Amino acid sequence: MKILVTGGAGFIGSHVADGYLGAGHDVVIADNLLSGNIDNVPADARLHLVDIAAPEFDLVVATERPDVVSHHAAQMSVTVSARDPGLDARINCGGLLNVLQSCVRHGVGRFVMISSGGAIYGDVPQRPTSEDVAPQPLSPYAIHKLTGERYLEFYRQEFGLSSITLRYGNVYGPRQDQHGEAGVVAIFVGKLLRGESPTIFAYPDQPAGMSRDYVYVADAVRANLRATESDATGAFNIAGGTPVRTGDLFRAVQAACGTNVTPAAGPARPGDLKENWLDVSRAEHLLGWRPEVSLPDGIARTVAHFRERQSAATAPA
Ligand SMILES: NC(=O)c1ccc[n+]([C@@H]2O[C@H](COP(=O)([O-])OP(=O)(O)OC[C@H]3O[C@@H](n4cnc5c(N)ncnc54)[C@H](O)[C@@H]3O)[C@@H](O)[C@H]2O)c1
Repeated sequence: MKILVTGGAGFIGSHVADGYLGAGHDVVIADNLLSGNIDNVPADARLHLVDIAAPEFDLVVATERPDVVSHHAAQMSVTVSARDPGLDARINCGGLLNVLQSCVRHGVGRFVMISSGGAIYGDVPQRPTSEDVAPQPLSPYAIHKLTGERYLEFYRQEFGLSSITLRYGNVYGPRQDQHGEAGVVAIFVGKLLRGESPTIFAYPDQPAGMSRDYVYVADAVRANLRATESDATGAFNIAGGTPVRTGDLFRAVQAACGTNVTPAAGPARPGDLKENWLDVSRAEHLLGWRPEVSLPDGIARTVAHFRERQSAATAPA
């Protein structure tokens, strides 16, 4: 099949593109490098440098005629969305609609939408949280991801566009941005390997930090392959299925890095959830997917990747 991965120069999208290529598919990428990196683009994939919200995006779909669109392009930081909700809406709603219109116009057969189980549910009391719990989004990012899911349902009913939504927990692994405002594993690893002290953001009544549900990027890739092959529809949580406090995550990363640094403490940022723990049983029953990489193993692989990159960057030419 020919698969168009939007956001394929980014952290997760580039791994998904690798996964599709490995499964024998033809892969095309659309990305404007807002937060992506051209070095992430697999050599065997064709890259179109284009904004998903721009009229020119339609030309990519018109000429490439993909069978499947995997929609990873997004503004992906909750903090940025709280600071600039208009920017988030332009990319995460306007861009999505532009992509969906092209899919309908040019007969795309299947649409895989990426949403956020780590954001859209808000601080609901039901934990682990299943897809049946009504989301209570607390940030513009979460509001726009949920709106995107609802548009997808409209396009399915109105135009017959077959679609599925993957609601990721906190995805981590090689290539994640170490200098961004999201992606705590990469940020911790980056700072510890540079000998700096990371900050643990916390609410006053939770000194050990908020809880998050981490999933290693290779597991997210497998979920994408399953979602593409199946005809299942609706939303699926894709996460590790275990809540981990930021303080405990810090200790695990510190052990893997072999450092002994005291972290700084900072206040929770606007839109930060207190707790996140996702029920992944729907994905297990309907997609035959469950997470396989344990947190210590995933952290060890991530640290090894960043160490290797660091020594390549400092090696004499
Ligand atoms: N990282 C996580 O833990 C996580 C959790 C839940 C959901 N997600 C979602 O997964 C997807 C990928 O996230 P990521 O962590 O890989 O982030 P990322 O920033 O590495 O990737 C996003 C990619 O989209 C591209 N992009 C942004 N705006 C664009 C535009 N207007 N036109 C074309 N390309 C554009 C960026 O250049 C980048 O390559 C996003 O939809 C994000 O919301 C991520």
